[in-house]
Amino acid sequence: MNTTGNYDETLILAVETSCDETSVAVVKGGKHILSNVVSSQIDVHEAFGGVVPEIASRKHVESITLIIEQAIRESGHGLKDMSAIAVTQGPGLVGALLVGIVAAKSLSLALDIPLIGTHHIAGHIYANELEHELRYPCLALVVSGGHTELVLLEEEGSFRLIGRTRDDAVGEAYDKVARSLKLPYPGGPHIDKLAAEAKAAIELPRAWLEEGSYDFSFSGLKSAVLAVINQTRMKGLELDEAALARGFQESVIEVLVTKSLRAASAYGVKQLLLCGGVAANRGLRAALAARCEAEGLPLLIPSGKLCTDNAAMIGAAAHLKLKRGMYSDLDLKADPGLSLEAWSPEIEDRTY
Ligand code: KG4
Ligand code: ZN
Repeated sequence: MNTTGNYDETLILAVETSCDETSVAVVKGGKHILSNVVSSQIDVHEAFGGVVPEIASRKHVESITLIIEQAIRESGHGLKDMSAIAVTQGPGLVGALLVGIVAAKSLSLALDIPLIGTHHIAGHIYANELEHELRYPCLALVVSGGHTELVLLEEEGSFRLIGRTRDDAVGEAYDKVARSLKLPYPGGPHIDKLAAEAKAAIELPRAWLEEGSYDFSFSGLKSAVLAVINQTRMKGLELDEAALARGFQESVIEVLVTKSLRAASAYGVKQLLLCGGVAANRGLRAALAARCEAEGLPLLIPSGKLCTDNAAMIGAAAHLKLKRGMYSDLDLKADPGLSLEAWSPEIEDRTY
């Protein structure tokens, strides 16, 4: 890496509007959170059982300027002190991303400071850097409502996707299963709670895919859950919802933990990082912690508020580009399918 100068004092104003959280943060030196304001729209979307993209965009428009003002105020600095503006460029909902991007471009132009388009998943991974010291090579298991990925970081800023879901993201599967059990949105925490209360587990399949693959698949498991619900109803029996939640959670966790540990060993990593909204899952945290401890592999998990979508993580990832002088042009476009390797500031080979 080619960097000159000291970047420990830089102040990044970061904006995140990729889904249903409007968030703005001020991050110092890529590691210290001076403010991190998160305004969630969950109550608005709850009535629809999922995020409604048009409503998400409209809500971001309503709140973005207020959240920027609050984040600046809480940071103890003024807009004129900012070194750069970071914004989530993708992946995410295009209309929602656009709101943050327009706000960030306006500030970049008005303040005459660099704009840094940032990858949402790089943000989830570097959320760890806000609380822990990363050691390379490390492996990140990213589990959220939109993503299920295994990312290898051979060095700082080098993101290599070694596994991903071929259908549903794990959080999405949690939310769909919760919906079929008539639990509120987002369903993940409800399934987690039900599973913890269960006295037994209904055995469900595990999707291992081809031998050696680090990819995931959760749609078959989701269908298996629906089949259990339908068959129980058809037979006029009472469904043990907790046992079903437990069976679903056990299947998800076994596959996530086994593949992560297998990849960690194959690539000889020094740390395993867990990130994304599903990292809040108690069963997953406990199972990973136990396996990592047994294998002597340090496990890093950000605290709850840094696992879910927030702008501080975007500031942490953007710092990788700031210190390399890699800035975006003012014609930056929202990219719902932005590739992590393509965004990566340091990568040897982009052909993965
Ligand atoms: O990272 P995140 O806040 O947003 C996305 O970028 O998607 O993740 C939200 C997802 C939702 O699907 C939610 O149900 C899931 O994380 N989630 C959980 C738990 N808490 C949140 N899933 C399982 N167990 C939990 N405790
Ligand atoms: Zn996210």
